[in-house]
Amino acid sequence: ADYELSGYASFMHKEISEQPEALRRALLGRLDERFATARLGGINLDARALRSIRRVKFLGCGSAYYAGQLGANLVEEWARLPADAEPASEFRYRNPVVEEDTLYVAVSQSGETADTLAAVQELRRKGGRVIGAVNVVGSAIGRECGSGVFLHAGPEVSVASTKAYTNMGACFAMLALLLGRVRDLSVSDGARIVAALSELPDKIAEVLEAEDAIAEVAEKHSTAERMFYIGRVRTWPTAREGAQKLKEISYVHAEAYQAAELKHGPLALIDATMPSVVLIPDDELLTKNLATIEQIKARGGPVIAVTNAELPNGLADSVIRVPRSEPELDPILFTVPLQIFAYHLARQLGRDIDKPRNLAKSVTVE
Ligand code: AGP
Repeated sequence: ADYELSGYASFMHKEISEQPEALRRALLGRLDERFATARLGGINLDARALRSIRRVKFLGCGSAYYAGQLGANLVEEWARLPADAEPASEFRYRNPVVEEDTLYVAVSQSGETADTLAAVQELRRKGGRVIGAVNVVGSAIGRECGSGVFLHAGPEVSVASTKAYTNMGACFAMLALLLGRVRDLSVSDGARIVAALSELPDKIAEVLEAEDAIAEVAEKHSTAERMFYIGRVRTWPTAREGAQKLKEISYVHAEAYQAAELKHGPLALIDATMPSVVLIPDDELLTKNLATIEQIKARGGPVIAVTNAELPNGLADSVIRVPRSEPELDPILFTVPLQIFAYHLARQLGRDIDKPRNLAKSVTVE
């Protein structure tokens, strides 16, 4: 029954809408309120082994790579361990340095992506410690890794990944919380994160309730042939994922940029025909992000602000509102309005949402 459309116009729409329950499944039994940490039994690492990790590297392709980047940011922020993400498709070709005290995380919805599987095999050949973050149980990557975190998003049919992505974000938040709590993340910060994670499904449900308003914004900008997606630090992976969604299903060119990098070149592209989707969480970088909007406006570029802050009236041409959560979880929460935006824009253009041209759900060729 999971594979049926059950009244939805497309699988992508169904899967976007399923996110609150999918996320609840990922969190189920994994949040430990008493010790303000996460329980991830599948990774098979006790506290001592967790403490011996000196670095974390996420490997995945496409959206799974962007999710890894989001995860790496959380690991750095909460565990204060150096962390990064790399496209799994590049990894084996550059003769990577594999370190014993690095935890490698192979990220894949399908668990069948050839490039990611090959990266895992290269790691294992070199004796690297690798765990999986996989949605499909029994898949090749899951089996090759032998241990890890299942995403529990349920079947994802649409080529454009949605609920698997948000579940990746939540699973990496739990991994970062766990790594943080065996180090210096305080019990009060741990408790704040546990509470925020358990509220996240309801916050996503709130975003879903605003679908009509987001659809209107998408309609308003559906004649654009190209767009910028602007993020900064935490929301940079979110901007990349948002741009990816738009490209995949609408065929509108979208490029993600870090806000402060705009002035180093890409501002030259801005004019009245090129809208910028600007992510503006109400965090310590708010004033910087407001300045980014000013820079874009000054060049005549339309601005679509995605925000949980109070913006000065008239600053942005369109505003998509997001509920407040803890700032570290904004990168996950802000992904959902971008999925809805891309979906409605693609619909407006009459695209084949679930089966975009030239793409396959899982890329089993190198
Ligand atoms: C996501 O919308 C894309 N279809 C694509 O980038 C995908 O995330 C990538 O191919 C990796 O797939 P996987 O998670 O199944 O390994």
